Amino acid sequence: MIQKKLPFTKGQVKEIIKFHPTPFYIYDEKEIRETAKRLNMAFSWNSQFKNYFAVKACPNNHILKILHEEGMGADCSSQPELIMADRVGIKGDQIMFTSNNTPAHEYKKARELGAIINLDDISHIPFLEKHAGIPDTICFRYNPGKLRGGNSIIGKPEEAKYGFTKKQLFEGYEIMKKKGVAKFGLHAMIASNERNPQYFVDTAQMLFDLIVEISKKVKIRFHFVNLGGGIGIPYKLDQKPVDLEYIGKGVHKAYIQTIVANDLQPLKIFMENGRMLTGPNGWLISTVLHKKSTHKKYVGLDACMANLMRPALYGAYHHITILGKENLPRRYKYDVTGSLCENNDKFAIDRMLPKIDIGDIVAIHDAGAHGYAMGFNYNGKLKSAELLLKEDGTIEQIRRAETVEDYFATLDFSKLEQDHSR
Ligand SMILES: Cc1ncc(COP(=O)(O)O)c(C=O)c1O
Repeated sequence: MIQKKLPFTKGQVKEIIKFHPTPFYIYDEKEIRETAKRLNMAFSWNSQFKNYFAVKACPNNHILKILHEEGMGADCSSQPELIMADRVGIKGDQIMFTSNNTPAHEYKKARELGAIINLDDISHIPFLEKHAGIPDTICFRYNPGKLRGGNSIIGKPEEAKYGFTKKQLFEGYEIMKKKGVAKFGLHAMIASNERNPQYFVDTAQMLFDLIVEISKKVKIRFHFVNLGGGIGIPYKLDQKPVDLEYIGKGVHKAYIQTIVANDLQPLKIFMENGRMLTGPNGWLISTVLHKKSTHKKYVGLDACMANLMRPALYGAYHHITILGKENLPRRYKYDVTGSLCENNDKFAIDRMLPKIDIGDIVAIHDAGAHGYAMGFNYNGKLKSAELLLKEDGTIEQIRRAETVEDYFATLDFSKLEQDHSR
């Protein structure tokens, strides 16, 4: 029977639960580091390759620190993410600020930190100038529209709100050249959870061709290209990990044929993957609270969609292991639910699983990216703790669980309570 890997046994998890009640997230430091090394290795031909980890995928300072130690920068989309990266020690141009519909104070913060600013729209040039000033490095996000197919999470590029059109890119670089910008970058992020390695090679080729065209016409020199994030992961048992070596080699070939052939080297290759680094290396651990048998058979967990909303949001598949029952036949069909007053609060629908008992511990796989990060407080649900399984096998709590006091922290009860006591 094919299984998904787990870096811990049921016995170890029971020990952890004595100190950290479920639900909680747990991340595997060793595998996060290994995955980062594999990505860096695939691009080692480009001496200044850097993946700017997409902070939105797993916004935890401890995880960022680990990735930074593996040579990664931070791709930030908001002021709090910028501040987190800075506080972890990721400084200056090791931060890329890729936002859209951006408020002025966020541009100010990005400029203050010396982050590379990746503009989403040509109208943001005067906006940036007015509120934060023009930096000496600038990057533009390209949206190829109908020239490229999209994929299911981001959608068709021509319907996506992000980025400049091709025509706007030429205009934008021209404007920025006149304003004295010295270093230029080009970026695209048009796929998410993409498992076809050729897609990334094609994106690189598209951007390299554009760089050749723009360099010649606008007469500027590109310092870097950012191929975006979006490398997918195998959520399902029959899916394979993306072949990183294929991507690295394919991009290298395109680089030689297009960038080197036009004498535009050196060009730094950047990416901003999130999911592929932490996704497969994080689990949501939960306990079965109730079983219910009506028109269907339900298993109710102590986690809910407020802890992991991907299944409800995208119908995403997350594999489920019932700890200690890994080798039992999956003969029972269940909906695995949370406790929100929403009928789409389900981690799995009609999932074949071993017979489940109240008190069983459940591991929801591939939850380490866009998992905790998308959490919310609907129905007064509190966010869980995050734990790190360290390389030496010990457990560190890297974020405590929210408390009721946290939930009330932004409310002021003082006046109401005074009135009440009269
Ligand atoms: C601009 C941008 N960069 C990078 C990412 C990271 O994508 P992934 O986690 O799929 O690699 C995202 C994800 O939404 C994004 O919007």
